[in-house]
Amino acid sequence: MTEKTPNTIRNTIELAFEELSTEEMKTRALDFNTLLQKRRTVRDFSPRKVPREVIDACLTAGGSAPSGAHRQPWHFALISDPSIKREIRSAAEIEEKEFYEKRAPQDWLDALAPLGTDSSKPFLEHAPFLIVIFAQKFKLDALGNRQKNYYVTESASIATGLLIAALHNAGLATLTHTPSPMKFLNTILGRPVTEKPLMVIVTGYPEKGTRIPDIQRKALNEFVSVHEEWPAIEAPMKLL
Ligand SMILES: Cc1cc2nc3c(=O)[nH]c(=O)nc-3n(C[C@H](O)[C@H](O)[C@H](O)COP(=O)(O)O)c2cc1C
Repeated sequence: MTEKTPNTIRNTIELAFEELSTEEMKTRALDFNTLLQKRRTVRDFSPRKVPREVIDACLTAGGSAPSGAHRQPWHFALISDPSIKREIRSAAEIEEKEFYEKRAPQDWLDALAPLGTDSSKPFLEHAPFLIVIFAQKFKLDALGNRQKNYYVTESASIATGLLIAALHNAGLATLTHTPSPMKFLNTILGRPVTEKPLMVIVTGYPEKGTRIPDIQRKALNEFVSVHEEWPAIEAPMKLL
């Protein structure tokens, strides 16, 4: 018999688990990988509108992420208002100009060179939607008391990953943008100081004819080490 997790949870529901055949598992795993491999960061967006229901469904998918102690320590600010987008663009460009011209060390600039990025951020105004991800360092109870959250950056980043995958699956392009520093986002969006802006996810349709950097992804054996239950068959047998 397998060892069971001690059942100390008071309120439980039965897990809705649909077991798949091995064939179905393989098909789904390969298809999902094929879909995700087609995701590329886009930096030129068309101003074409995107249905709000699509964005809402993707945000909901992002919010399904696991989180430390189930605190769900994220807030997504969805922006389509042109005046707010303009404000975000001009604040981001001020910070980015400082970064590219003064603060960035040469090795960082060298790493960015193949991507062709600079301090100009027109996509912050052109794309139909910006989604600013905030990580909630504390949860505020009804009386305004602070309750600590756990694994805040990890949890909010997983939620962001699911959001990016959901937007891609829905046929939208994304850009993960991290103006540095990002505190201006709290001021513009009226978010409390207990929230740390993590990333801006820019989304919409790519501009027609958009070109992207020709970069390669690591192969599986470059980022995976395998520690199998049984030694590989060709491994020498140990004599007793
Ligand atoms: C945490 C994070 C921050 C990033 N910040 C920026 C950014 O500020 N500006 C930008 O143009 N791209 C940014 N990117 C996008 C990366 O440059 C891009 O993901 C990488 O070059 C790989 O390309 P791909 O997404 O097309 O696979 C960021 C990506 C991540 C994950």
